[in-house]
Amino acid sequence: MMALRKSVEKAAELIKDHAYARIISHYDADGITSAGIICNALLRNDIQFHTTIVSKLDRSFIQGLDEDLIIFCDMGTAQSDLITEYLNKKDVIILDHHVASASPPISRVSSVLLINPFGSRSMEKRGMENEIGDGICAAGLSYLMARCMAGDNKANIDLAGLAVAGTLGDKLEFTKGINKLILDEAVKEGVISVKKGLKLGDGKIRDLILFSTEPYIPLAGKGAWVDALLSKAGIDGDKNVSDLGKESEKRLSDALFSLLRESNPEISEGALVGTTYILNSEVIRNGLNFMRMVDACGRLGNSSIGIGLCLREEGLVGEAKSLYLTFQSKLVSELNRIESEKGEIKELQNIFYLFVHERGITGVLAGIVAEYLYTGKIVIVVNKQDLTEDGKVAETKLSARCNKKLLAVSKGIDLAQAMEKASREVGGVGGGHPVAAGASIPEGAEEKFIAALDRIIGAQKGSEYS
Ligand code: C5P
Repeated sequence: MMALRKSVEKAAELIKDHAYARIISHYDADGITSAGIICNALLRNDIQFHTTIVSKLDRSFIQGLDEDLIIFCDMGTAQSDLITEYLNKKDVIILDHHVASASPPISRVSSVLLINPFGSRSMEKRGMENEIGDGICAAGLSYLMARCMAGDNKANIDLAGLAVAGTLGDKLEFTKGINKLILDEAVKEGVISVKKGLKLGDGKIRDLILFSTEPYIPLAGKGAWVDALLSKAGIDGDKNVSDLGKESEKRLSDALFSLLRESNPEISEGALVGTTYILNSEVIRNGLNFMRMVDACGRLGNSSIGIGLCLREEGLVGEAKSLYLTFQSKLVSELNRIESEKGEIKELQNIFYLFVHERGITGVLAGIVAEYLYTGKIVIVVNKQDLTEDGKVAETKLSARCNKKLLAVSKGIDLAQAMEKASREVGGVGGGHPVAAGASIPEGAEEKFIAALDRIIGAQKGSEYS
C-alpha cells in the first residue's frame, strides 16, 4: 500500500514538471474513464495533452511515441520491456492493473514509473497479491493520482464518478480496499449517491429489457414477449425505471428474476438487483448507463465521444446514446442467433468457441455467453478481420471469458496466461486478466490458436492437482 501510494505521489509530481503530455489508454470503459480523469486533472493544472485510445499496444506504436511525458493507462505492464527499450529517455508513467506474465521487472534506474498494484512481478507470484490494491482498476489508480495532483484539499474529488464508472466497467467490487475508500469519500462529499434497486440502468423500462444483455434476460430483442411480460406484471413499459414505485419495482424484478431462473437455475438475485450508483457530477448520472455508453463509444471506434463524456460535454450525450444502442443491437442480434442456431457454437474438450462478423463486440459477447448461455467451459469469441483499422495486415481478434463459478471449481485456470501463451505460438499478442483476456493473431491462424488454447487450458486445469 505504501509503495503504491509513494509511486502515485511521485507520478503526480512528475506530471506537474511538464507543460505537455501524451496519454495512451485502452478502448474499454476503464481505459477511457482512466484517460478522462487524467485529461480533467491536466486541464485543471494548465497542462496540454494529446490523448490516443487504442485496442492494443505493439512495438511499432510504442517506438513511434516522441513526447517528453507519456502516460499509459489500463495497459503497458505487459509491454514494459518495449517501453523501457524505446522510451528510456522520456518520462513515462504506467497506470495499470494487468498482471504481466512475460515482461521482466522494470529496473529501478529506468525513467519508467509503473503504478500497478501487482507490480511487474510474474504470474507465478500472484498469490502475494496486495489485499488493499487488489481490485482497483486503472480509473481508480488515475483518480488517486488526480487527487494527489490537487494536493491536500478536496479538489478533484468530483472525478470520483469516473473512477466508479471504470470500476463498474471492469466488474470490480466496492466492498473492500481502496475502491471502498474512494466510494465512501465520494458519497460523503455528495459526488456519488447509492441506492438499492434494479441493476438495468435508467431509461424506459421496455427499452431496457429489450436491450438487456447484463444480466442477459432471454427477452432481449423480442418485443412481443417483453410486452406480454410487462402486461402480465401490470407494468407500464413507457415509464422510466427511476419513476417506478417500490411495489411496482419489486413486481417487475420478481417477474424478470423468475425468467432469468428458468434459463439459468443457478443465477442469484444479485445479478438483477443490488446497489446502483448515481454520478451526481457527470453528464449521464446513472453509473451503469455512463459506463456502458463510454464502453460502446470505445469499442465502436468512437472513443473521442467517450472522452468527451468524461469531460462533461453535454452535447455529446445524444451521439453516445445512439452508439450504445447500435452496440446493444449488434450484441442482441448475435445472442438471438446463438440461441436459435445451436450449431454456431463449436465445442472442444475445454472450450466453447464461436465466430462473429461484427467488430468490437467479442469481449462483451464472450462475457455474456460464458455467464448466461454456455456456462460449463471457457468461451472464446472470434472475429476475423480482412483489414486492420489502419488498413494494414489482416488480423483476427479473440476474446476469452470464464464465469466465476467455473473458475472456483477449476482453480488452475488463468486466461491471461493461456491467451498470451497461445498467441505467442502463432505470432500474435494476448493477455488480460485470469477471467477475461484477449488476443490479436495473424489472420489464418485461428484454428491453430484455438487448438493451442484448448491444450493450454487443459494443462492449467491439470496443474491444479499436480
Ligand atoms: O478485448 P477484450 O475485451 O477481450 O480484452 C479483455 C482483457 O484482455 C482486457 O483487460 C484487455 O486489456 C486484455 N487484452 C490484452 N492483450 C490483448 C487483448 C486484450 O492484454 N491483445
